[in-house]
Amino acid sequence: MHIRVLGSAAGGGFPQWNCNCSNCAAVRQGDPALTARTQSSIAVSRNGQDWLLVNASPDILAQVRAMPELQPARALRDSGIVAVLLMDAQIDHVTGLLMLRERRTALPLYATPQVLDELNTSLPLVRVLSHYAGVEAHLLSLTEPDFAVPGLEDIRFTVIPLSSNAPPFSPRRDAPLPGDNIGVVIEDIQSGQRLLYAPGLGRMEPAVAQAMATADVVLVDGTCWRNDEMQALGLSDKTAADMGHLAQSGPGGMIEVLAALPKRTRKILIHINNTNPILRSDSPERAALTAAGIEVAWDGMAITLGSSNG
Ligand code: MLT
Ligand code: MN
Ligand code: ZN
Repeated sequence: MHIRVLGSAAGGGFPQWNCNCSNCAAVRQGDPALTARTQSSIAVSRNGQDWLLVNASPDILAQVRAMPELQPARALRDSGIVAVLLMDAQIDHVTGLLMLRERRTALPLYATPQVLDELNTSLPLVRVLSHYAGVEAHLLSLTEPDFAVPGLEDIRFTVIPLSSNAPPFSPRRDAPLPGDNIGVVIEDIQSGQRLLYAPGLGRMEPAVAQAMATADVVLVDGTCWRNDEMQALGLSDKTAADMGHLAQSGPGGMIEVLAALPKRTRKILIHINNTNPILRSDSPERAALTAAGIEVAWDGMAITLGSSNG
């Protein structure tokens, strides 16, 4: 099974268009300790031809150009993208759907009822897309969490409910319901190997702890190093927790959570905000991650689980 990181940054990307924090300024100047990143999304395939996108980032067109496998060119109009799975309705995870409007047939879209509701009301992308090829909605259930995606045979997907936050434009902002945010376990059925993807994880709960404990790879929320990171830089009055993200440092932080997992578990951070000091390869914070056996995802990173027949 193939997993490809299409984008590893949080909303805004890296550098963010209007940001002059030390990270954004340095990457613009070509500092070799930093690498530019697009907004978070991964692609999953069993055969190397048919790919599921998990989240559709506003940077999707650049991401498709950077990954030739997504353009197999078997017909005059063709794509390797067979479906999209959404973790939430945040702008950085859904607006790429608009860029897929030239499809000939409705786009298979896997999302919870809450996320689909958001995309029919407060951010009505599904309504807009109905004037193009439209979407073929597949509702995800928290009570029957396993599902399959045609074209990705031999992969089992399992919805993991997460506590994070609903988007700023949602009527459920600051009072999210189960299903507003999910993670997904992606299992290569033949080998039983599993990856947990959870780019927006605000709080540890039994279901996510269980999914982490049984995963071979955890690819999880790396938004902020400090809970007050944006406040400390004078960039926002919100903490990471306010936005639904568990910061890495401090008691109960993501480093502690990941350090408790078995040594053989591969631990990778994704959805990294442009303010996060781990973006600098020579920072003490990055050294602390490395010492804890934690990697930082990068655009183009490839992960293979089990056997790969493609
Ligand atoms: C988030 O992850 O909290 C959001 O994507 C923030 C944003 O919309 O920029
Ligand atoms: Mn985000
Ligand atoms: Zn910045």
